[in-house]
Amino acid sequence: MPAILIAILDSNPDAWGEEFRTLAPTRDFRLWPDCVGDPTDIAYACVWEPPQGLLAKFTNLKAILSLGAGVDHITSDTSLPDVPIVRMVDPDMTMRMTEYVVLHVLIAHRRLRLYDAQQRQRLWRNHDEPAANKVAVGVMGLGVLGRDAADVLSRIGFRVAGWSRTATRIPGIETFHGDGDLDAFLARTEILVSLLPCTARTEGILNRALFRKLKRDGALGGAVLINAGRGKLQIDADIVDALDEGILSAPTLDVFATEPLAGTSPLWAHPKITVTPHNAALSDARSMALNMLKQIERFERGLPFENVVDRGAGY
Ligand code: NDP
Ligand code: OXD
Repeated sequence: MPAILIAILDSNPDAWGEEFRTLAPTRDFRLWPDCVGDPTDIAYACVWEPPQGLLAKFTNLKAILSLGAGVDHITSDTSLPDVPIVRMVDPDMTMRMTEYVVLHVLIAHRRLRLYDAQQRQRLWRNHDEPAANKVAVGVMGLGVLGRDAADVLSRIGFRVAGWSRTATRIPGIETFHGDGDLDAFLARTEILVSLLPCTARTEGILNRALFRKLKRDGALGGAVLINAGRGKLQIDADIVDALDEGILSAPTLDVFATEPLAGTSPLWAHPKITVTPHNAALSDARSMALNMLKQIERFERGLPFENVVDRGAGY
């Protein structure tokens, strides 16, 4: 039977081996880096942040399965074999990401950081709180994750719009697409949620010039950024400058160009920045392993893989 490589850069890679073996006890799993065996046996590679050049060693590889929804950790390999890349689409992941986005939108909307500070001072004081339907949220990236978050935010009552690469229609959500619509999307957006993949076209997009185009005179009286897409989308120094200049009021960052975020980064200590350790959609390991095994079983039954990455577009 064709072997399945598990090459998952994680603090506990053995635990991943256990998950897969429990779900499919009769399959031949090879755990990188210690138990790969004959590289020509490997037909499928289940990966998270595989090292450069690793996948090219498997000459009989049929597919690469990403443990994540994002695939930049795979496509950045310059010697990647020409086989399908299957990305993760999983209801558990979607639910967790939507929770994260809604949580941080509501923290901004209900001024929780301000009330936290007041509590520390034992201060009993109310502030204006606009209704959700006065607050404009804009979601960059209307894929599996962006759509779900946008839908839930819209059901809470926010004025939600979304921006994607190609044109799309979503009931109850105002949609914008392409570079031509970006300025109009930003001009109506007070809380900007980024759920974009990192590609050649999106890297560095969350920069000072973009922040300046956000709506600052809306119901919240400032512009908020929530980036749970990828760290390389954002320019850290521009975020700090934009805060100092009053262009941004409260960024929440889950992802960083280099992870873990260095202890020396000014982002940690900035009083207005919320940092989380890339855990917006930290998903259930069993659910992820099952998802990848189901894709392999589908393929072996003669069905096409689902959620195959468009390598030209980069996601
Ligand atoms: P999808 O591939 O389903 O959606 C990507 C969306 O981004 C699409 O709407 C796409 O447009 C849009 N997009 C891509 N390129 C551009 C561009 N140049 N301009 C405008 N829009 C663009 O991805 P998911 O929703 O599943 O995941 C999104 C990202 O979230 C992942 O790539 C990953 O980086 C990140 N992520 C982060 C996690 C975390 O824990 N922080 C967890 C999981 C994912 P179109 O609809 O036209 O194709
Ligand atoms: C992903 C992630 O891409 O967890 O799934 O970042």
